[in-house]
Amino acid sequence: MTALTLSTAGAATLRADAIVVGVAKGAKGPVVAPGAEAVDKAFDGKLAAVLETLGAAGAEGEATKLPSPAGLKAPVVLAVGLGAAPKKDGAYGAEALRRAAGTAARALAGAKKAAFALPISDAADTAAVAEGALLGAYAFTAYQGGADAKGSGKAVLAEVALLGAKPRDKAHKAAAERALALAEEINRARDLINTPPNDLTPEAFAAVASAAGKEHGIKVQVLDEKALVKGGFGGIMGVGQGSTNPPRLVKLTYTHSRNAKTLALVGKGITYDSGGISLKPAGHNETMKCDMSGAAAVFAAVVAAARLGLPVNVTGWLALAENMPSGNATRPGDVLRMYSGKTVEVLNTDAEGRLVLGDALWKASEEKPDAIVDVATLTGAMVLALGNRTFGIMANDDAFRTAIHEIADEVGEQSWPMPLPAELRKGMDSPTADIANMGERMGGGLVAGLFLQEFVGEGITWAHLDIAGPAFHEGAPYGYTPKGGTGSSVRTLVKLAERMGDGDLG
Ligand code: BES
Ligand code: MN
Ligand code: ZN
Repeated sequence: MTALTLSTAGAATLRADAIVVGVAKGAKGPVVAPGAEAVDKAFDGKLAAVLETLGAAGAEGEATKLPSPAGLKAPVVLAVGLGAAPKKDGAYGAEALRRAAGTAARALAGAKKAAFALPISDAADTAAVAEGALLGAYAFTAYQGGADAKGSGKAVLAEVALLGAKPRDKAHKAAAERALALAEEINRARDLINTPPNDLTPEAFAAVASAAGKEHGIKVQVLDEKALVKGGFGGIMGVGQGSTNPPRLVKLTYTHSRNAKTLALVGKGITYDSGGISLKPAGHNETMKCDMSGAAAVFAAVVAAARLGLPVNVTGWLALAENMPSGNATRPGDVLRMYSGKTVEVLNTDAEGRLVLGDALWKASEEKPDAIVDVATLTGAMVLALGNRTFGIMANDDAFRTAIHEIADEVGEQSWPMPLPAELRKGMDSPTADIANMGERMGGGLVAGLFLQEFVGEGITWAHLDIAGPAFHEGAPYGYTPKGGTGSSVRTLVKLAERMGDGDLG
């Protein structure tokens, strides 16, 4: 991954392939953002005018490359748009910095070293620029570059040097270290999501988790298909039994101390969702390798919490299965006995996420954590409701749902609170079993949430994040969001764990 350094060097004197400056939209044209004074000086104070002539306005997403004038060590200047300039004496928002840094890192793919002279006024800005740059530099190239050159596709920006982020200041150093650990884990989640499903089977995912656990002092336990049958995990087995790649339930345990609060995270890990016997039509299954994004987010969040030594216990549950049609597959009409003992009539085998999650939620509940959050690419209905960039939050506790929404806002992830209307429950009544895995079509995302709620232990605070929209980005890259797996919700989960550790929540 891209390396990160903090530098005290001046923008004019640092040796780099390019120097990145910020340009914002002012009332009368583009304005050069603070941090770029030395660069502007090398342009005789005319950088804003030059940029305007080149058509730059300072809008978000803009990237303008210029050859450097005499007086700058770096041969290229890259001006990235920050959006509207803040009011007098105001600071740039964290998300504007993150996105501009991401746009810059992407525009400099292939370069060895870039110096970032974006406006940094405090440690939070250092974190934002570092996160944006490290996340924006990401590219998934493991399957490009020819058979004998695995992973030799296009190179990413190799080193980011942050100027203006005081390397000897404890807060700035800590912010940069946190950003690096977080970005590395988010990029690892992205790699898992982008890995094709013929390679990332449930078994392969479990092996990656076991290896990471060893590396970071996290206890990892894996239940294989034999243990799952023996344990009565009818939901996970019911979904996974149609595939030649058998399911797994992985438990990751990061323990800070016995007295600390415990947050349980549960992730939907369908390594490929064909729909099963209720097969998805062409046009709906091409990106379904992304259906393990919830499990990838949970995995990344637990590892990040451990690396950061957060003062909270975090348990991660990865419910891994491949949803395939075959002679052994669950049929529409079958009844499964879930780990909780409840029976489920499977009316549609494509509503599989709630089945694997139901088992994992009940298992997680047995340990009586202070809170449970599940993360899943659960419903197309949530994408219809909120679009491709916003995840839905449902919960059995209004304050908890609000807290997660606010945390997501703070870390730069778009989300929206959604209800769990009780009247939608009866649509899942089954003549044969305790509940059916489908209900009314209207409000399908909320129906799925109500199904999950049935498998949350009595009295446990719980929230459900439906990340079906933002988990996988099919459009052109923007800001620090690449094509493909995004790592949606990891930053929210890590900040939530931090807050619980601070005693603010749970
Ligand atoms: N994995 C899908 C949901 C999904 C859709 C994720 C689009 C990402 C993008 C899920 O398993 C599914 O198929 N849900 C069905 C449920 C329905 C059959 C009740 C859906 O949303 O159509
Ligand atoms: Mn499905
Ligand atoms: Zn699915």
